[in-house]
Amino acid sequence: MRVLVVGSGAREHALVRAIARSHLVTAVFCAPGNPGIAALAGLVPIAATDVQALTEFAAANAIDLVVPGPEAPLVLGLTDALAARGIRCCGPTAAAARLEGSKQFTKEVADAAGIPTARWEAFTDTHHALDFVRRRGAPIVVKADGLAAGKGVVVAETEAEAAAAVIACLREGSFGAAGATVVIEECLVGQEVSVFALCDGRDAIFLGAARDHKRVGDGDRGPNTGGMGAIAPPPGFTHATQIAVMDGIIHPALAEMERRGTPFTGILFAGLMLTEHGPKLIEFNVRFGDPEAETLLPLLDSDILPLLLAASEGRLAGSSLAWRAEASVSVVMAAAGYPGAYQRGSAITGLAAAEAGAEVSVFQAGTRLEHDTLVADGGRVLVINATAPSLAEARARAYAAVDAIDWPQGFCRRDIGAHF
Ligand code: AMP
Ligand code: GLY
Repeated sequence: MRVLVVGSGAREHALVRAIARSHLVTAVFCAPGNPGIAALAGLVPIAATDVQALTEFAAANAIDLVVPGPEAPLVLGLTDALAARGIRCCGPTAAAARLEGSKQFTKEVADAAGIPTARWEAFTDTHHALDFVRRRGAPIVVKADGLAAGKGVVVAETEAEAAAAVIACLREGSFGAAGATVVIEECLVGQEVSVFALCDGRDAIFLGAARDHKRVGDGDRGPNTGGMGAIAPPPGFTHATQIAVMDGIIHPALAEMERRGTPFTGILFAGLMLTEHGPKLIEFNVRFGDPEAETLLPLLDSDILPLLLAASEGRLAGSSLAWRAEASVSVVMAAAGYPGAYQRGSAITGLAAAEAGAEVSVFQAGTRLEHDTLVADGGRVLVINATAPSLAEARARAYAAVDAIDWPQGFCRRDIGAHF
């Protein structure tokens, strides 16, 4: 099989590595990829959002399966454009990708499907929204309806904070069209977890659970980021929790999407709160998580490609995946200043020494080659993953690998997986 992976981060590096190991694969391409991916796949200089050029490339190069990493090409209709040319894609259509694009849509699907989630209401009118905040009181959560680069959610501890968030969205237009509607919802209490399911429109198989570490600083302090590290499996995530999530959240969501005539194919990412009343849905994303993919894929014992293909062809029923019963820890190395302003171009060495550690993988995200030197070229730059029989050992291996990397302009959290 000839496979095209779309994207350029550490998640795509991990996907390419898993796919390149498949017994089915004859060629792997990645658009646009990065220097780490170049060692495993042919790089194609097409942006992940250039749906037309990606489709032309796939058609001209006899690609059998396209595997998109990020949501942007999916929201823009990559799956639809490929389908029109008879090319399979393991990702949702634009219509099904609305599960990530609109929080109100997700809440409507959740309610129609009987999925446990925070009680909510949507508003376009500032007065009605402020009135609702006053009646409900704090803590309360205010969300811009659309995609707001991870900045559209305020978990307000006070009514004043919630009111400010409503005004920023609805009156000041801080998030443009994405904030023209706000969803205001009950504040859930518990541990957060990311759960992944591979879906074929009707059936789904569990693709693992992980815990992300979203704040930039140790002890979960400082601003939110795209994710500074992840662990798997999340402590406290039992087999019973897995069944509750698959039966109570994933399968009902698929049935509701099918009923609406927009069946969901691809990787469904459920962001959940494990509350005292069971798992509750916070949000859906329509893709693998980053750094969750880098954390889960190294634990996979099965060949993933036949399953990605089966999902894209609607024939997952009866499939299963085998996992190593081990722990996995991923530590993100970011450029100093991230998630604020940061500099590009600092040299990184020591990757080979880092990867010499047992069960260690170094996935590249924001990197670039300058002559023969690897340099930082983004906020999140490297993801160092290690697996081991226990979480403590995986942590120790991951941080030993981090310490082997020579990059004075980089930093990482020192407590990934430590607070359990
Ligand atoms: P979202 O973009 O919907 O994932 O929200 C971003 C973050 O806000 C989540 O990862 C949670 O930490 C937090 N959050 C969102 N909704 C709620 C909620 N109803 N209760 C508590 N925390 C929430
Ligand atoms: N790690 C969270 C995400 O990929 O959105």
